Amino acid sequence: MNSDLEQKQPNCSTKNNMKRKTGGLLGILILLQYLGSIRADPDPLQDFCVASTSTSTTSQPFFVNGAPCINPAQALPVHFMTSVLSKPGNTSANPFGFNVTLTNTRNLPGMNTQGLTMARIDIAANGLVPPHSHPRASEVTFLLKGNLLVGFVDTSNRLFTQQLREGDSFVFPRGLIHFLYNLQSSPALCVSGLNSQNPGAQLAAIATFATNPSILNDVLKKAFQVSEKDVARIRKNLGG
Ligand SMILES: *[C@@H]1O[C@H](CO)[C@@H](O)[C@H](O)[C@H]1NC(C)=O
Ligand SMILES: *[C@@H]1O[C@H](CO)[C@@H](O)[C@H](O)[C@H]1NC(C)=O
Repeated sequence: MNSDLEQKQPNCSTKNNMKRKTGGLLGILILLQYLGSIRADPDPLQDFCVASTSTSTTSQPFFVNGAPCINPAQALPVHFMTSVLSKPGNTSANPFGFNVTLTNTRNLPGMNTQGLTMARIDIAANGLVPPHSHPRASEVTFLLKGNLLVGFVDTSNRLFTQQLREGDSFVFPRGLIHFLYNLQSSPALCVSGLNSQNPGAQLAAIATFATNPSILNDVLKKAFQVSEKDVARIRKNLGG
């Protein structure tokens, strides 16, 4: 709005106007610095680094941050495509009723070092992707089918929540706890882009009550203000 105003009064270069301009410039610089600091993965130093999917650790003489590249002369178009997101995941394989299928350097070797991942998220009728976070990526999700209640919580514990309809998108900022809940009695489907080739995921419930080895009961009793019995029950329900 400020810049609009300035454009409409090009001849009015008062001191105030200058101050506003330098203030705006400073703001842009701070914003750029901020955007730089939340960049998820390091920039690639070559056109591509098609991941070597060789699983033998003995033939791998060194380890890098990501996966080593194959010889660029041996890269093929097929290294840059995958059908892994074409099939729905099995939403009955966990008690929450969701399944996430991810691209990774094994099923899509061409994405290595590009700083991105795609995810297919299938959510059964009334299923839930329980509160979780991605330590290395921001996420934007696009709802292809269904009706979802989504939300994230910021570090001051403020909840940002929205109801999404088909065609809507929603951003989950990097590292913040978020969830996706299917409000309908039919399956939902969304596709997410994440700005890391290895976003990582921590489910809050699992990362507390179903860890290996278990967190001391007294810690969970105090943290959640519940009894020994409650801890045992939650553990059992979550398969911990
Ligand atoms: C997702 O579905 C696949 C099969 O489609 C299954 O092997 C996998 O265990 C499921 N994952 C979860 C977390 O339920
Ligand atoms: C999905 O997972 C459940 C539980 O693990 C299993 O009983 C069922 O056969 C699986 N369905 C498919 C299509 O793989």
